[in-house]
Amino acid sequence: MVEGMVMERYTAEELAGVYRAIRERRDVRSGFLPNSLPEDLVLRLLRSAHQAPSVGFMQPWRFIVIRSRETRQAIFEIFQDARAQEHQTYCEDRAELYSRLTLQGILTAPLNICVVCDCESSRGHSLGRHTMPETALYSAVCAIQNLWIAARAEGVGLGWVSIIDPERAKRVLKIPRSVTLVGYFCIGYVEAFAPEPDLERAGWERRLPLEEVLRSETFDQAWRGIDPQ
Ligand SMILES: Cc1cc2nc3c(=O)[nH]c(=O)nc-3n(C[C@H](O)[C@H](O)[C@H](O)COP(=O)(O)O)c2cc1C
Repeated sequence: MVEGMVMERYTAEELAGVYRAIRERRDVRSGFLPNSLPEDLVLRLLRSAHQAPSVGFMQPWRFIVIRSRETRQAIFEIFQDARAQEHQTYCEDRAELYSRLTLQGILTAPLNICVVCDCESSRGHSLGRHTMPETALYSAVCAIQNLWIAARAEGVGLGWVSIIDPERAKRVLKIPRSVTLVGYFCIGYVEAFAPEPDLERAGWERRLPLEEVLRSETFDQAWRGIDPQ
């Protein structure tokens, strides 16, 4: 065995903690407390994100930490426009339900983070990206998942805001054209985490049973019928 390698198993308690954080992670966009997050906590979360796997060890993620009210206000306005456009794509009951959803906490959370991906970075020497260049983006999403789970374990809520025009948001944040905005997040302490997704509670969508998304050996053509009619 290589010196320094770790082989001992996690204790039952440690294991339970890992599964608990995964199970209890929630997308949070309301109920944020105004308290600012300590600097060392924010660094711990970002360090967890930075420990994510990446194709060719490319580490293409870049994190922009946003506290400025002015910047958040600018992003909020971009959200409002995108939300109004998305709202128009729904009819009748769905549109009514959509209008009642809270879909962001950009101004109510004390902290926002934007995760971008430099897909053109030569770090990692293109290993693993010749046939699947999109794996750079997948790597950035792995970092986001780490951030999300670490936040939950720390009692910090995190909400993903994808209802924004990324090109407009990039201009606000001075992100170069060649860099992809992967995710925009609102982050802050919360009093409590909901036991199930907000969208489930609101009647927007239900969680699929694992059995419905699991088959052996090959794709199940019946999966095409999994979508609501
Ligand atoms: C890529 C991505 C984008 C998302 N964008 C939004 C968003 O713009 N607004 C929102 O309210 N939730 C957003 N969500 C959160 C989902 O609605 C949420 O993950 C889902 O309803 C399941 O809930 P849970 O994360 O609490 O388990 C996003 C989640 C992902 C993974």
